Amino acid sequence: MRILITGISGMLGVDLYETLREEYEVVGLDLKDFPSTSFPSPPLSKVDITDEHGVREVFRQLAPDFVIHTAAYTDVDGCERDPARAYKVNALGTQNVCLASQDLNIPVMYISTDFVFDGKKNYSYTELDEPHPLNVYGRSKLAGENYVRSLVERYFIVRTSWLYGPHGKNFVETILKLAEEKEEFTVVDDQVGSPTYTKDLAQEMKKLVSSSSCGIYHITNSGSCSWHNFAEEILELAGLRRVKVKPITSKELNRPACRPRFSVLKSTSSGRGAEDTMRSWKEALREYIKRDRRHESN
Ligand SMILES: NC(=O)c1ccc[n+]([C@@H]2O[C@H](COP(=O)([O-])OP(=O)(O)OC[C@H]3O[C@@H](n4cnc5c(N)ncnc54)[C@H](OP(=O)(O)O)[C@@H]3O)[C@@H](O)[C@H]2O)c1
Repeated sequence: MRILITGISGMLGVDLYETLREEYEVVGLDLKDFPSTSFPSPPLSKVDITDEHGVREVFRQLAPDFVIHTAAYTDVDGCERDPARAYKVNALGTQNVCLASQDLNIPVMYISTDFVFDGKKNYSYTELDEPHPLNVYGRSKLAGENYVRSLVERYFIVRTSWLYGPHGKNFVETILKLAEEKEEFTVVDDQVGSPTYTKDLAQEMKKLVSSSSCGIYHITNSGSCSWHNFAEEILELAGLRRVKVKPITSKELNRPACRPRFSVLKSTSSGRGAEDTMRSWKEALREYIKRDRRHESN
């Protein structure tokens, strides 16, 4: 089976490729080159998903049997400042991927976000909850979900949250860099979610690829925390307890995009097999900081 990953050079895309390549033939599409890594690079087509004709042509040439669509404009505040770009990439780009997949009659797995919810519920969101995004990024990703649902017969929508991993800019790296530069800094304490390691997510997505149970799936590491708790755990695991992190409110931080106060996801779907609960976010973070991150920087 040949799998096409859009956004293959991104943070999740690289780990997905690494996870899938031993069992499947994997090809990719992205705007940028694949990063230099310890494993061989995949065949990659440089195509902008907003180019409908270009996407259709590449799909026709590559003839995939399955598409995993991770490419997106993921800068949440950038989306707020430039809603036209957010919709063009995240909604219309997804429409193009769906139309090209329709031509070949193949399944699409679309990666979506906890930010489709408004966070007012105060307990975990399941796949049955009605989305109600607070910001442009969330609205554009939800529009992408709606294209997937209406245009693709066999679809998987995987909602996940607070991703970090070895191949992209992420919160863990931001905190470790800040700790190198400062003895004290601030992090918001009034947004709660589930940090998720891209390698763990990729493993769960691999299980779904071989399943025939289409639908919506919430997939995150288990447990939850605030960004402030997350920062403290990162510093603890990195042996940087001397650095102080002061809690602040979202209002004090004053970012362009409003974020949900509580966006913990829970799964009621059972299409992934018996072991649906993933390991805790703390355990996954430990592995990233103690093992994978060091390996990556060598
Ligand atoms: N990061 C998170 O915390 C998080 C949480 C929940 C859900 N998600 C979803 O998970 C997916 C993967 O996220 P990620 O953090 O791995 O994102 P990422 O690192 O930004 O990767 C996305 C990749 O897509 C590429 N891309 C962007 N616009 C494109 C276009 N018009 N045509 C073709 N390729 C394009 C990007 O290239 P450039 O870098 O050159 O733009 C990048 O290589 C996304 O769909 C995102 O919405 C992410």
